[in-house]
Amino acid sequence: MEEKNFITVALPKGKLFKPSAELLNQIGWTAEGLHEKSRKLIITNESARLKFIITKTADVPTYVEYGAADIGIIGKDVIVESGKDVYELLDLGFGKCHLMMAVPKDKKRPRLEDYAHTRVATKFPRLAENFFAAQGMQMEYIKLNGSIELGPIVGLSESIVDIVETGTTLRENNLEEIVTIMDSTARLIANRVSYKLKFARINSLVDDLAKILSR
Ligand code: PRP
Repeated sequence: MEEKNFITVALPKGKLFKPSAELLNQIGWTAEGLHEKSRKLIITNESARLKFIITKTADVPTYVEYGAADIGIIGKDVIVESGKDVYELLDLGFGKCHLMMAVPKDKKRPRLEDYAHTRVATKFPRLAENFFAAQGMQMEYIKLNGSIELGPIVGLSESIVDIVETGTTLRENNLEEIVTIMDSTARLIANRVSYKLKFARINSLVDDLAKILSR
């Protein structure tokens, strides 16, 4: 079957798209029309036997787990939050950020435990719950899909659990980080079956990327 010769790569829309596409381009894994502003969801490079699919960030592990994409690039934070069973092949180093808990500066409480039983707004309820449960804290989780920082400002929650990259969003919204939960970078992931069936191509991709990253 012709499809068997193709590798489908899932790339996330958003901040990781550009560095991911640029990195793959360095080893010739690219396609005409593969750029950030494209509205096309599947972009094919027939001669290189590559297909790129551009998905919502949080959905990359889903496409890869089900084998709709053979491989993908996505943040460690999103992989763990998704709970999907995917094979993590390589730490790509970019997309550095960390997951943390923050509160409004003027409503800071002395100790972390003082927030027990309060509401946390987050896009990462699983990671947040794992963290607080490990501290022996029961919390109420309010799932939001973006602009998490708004939560405590409008009284929806007492705190947030969210990603910080430069710290600008926290600063501009008078929020202060009180505890770091996990560090994250972009990872190359693969579907477990694809990794076996398409081992030669996926493995040489890993080798080529590892060489570039070690420079
Ligand atoms: C992420 C995150 C923060 C912001 C942090 O949001 O949720 O809001 O980036 O970055 P900074 O520390 O550099 O300010 P994103 O821009 O991905 O959009 P979202 O709020 O819609 O999730």
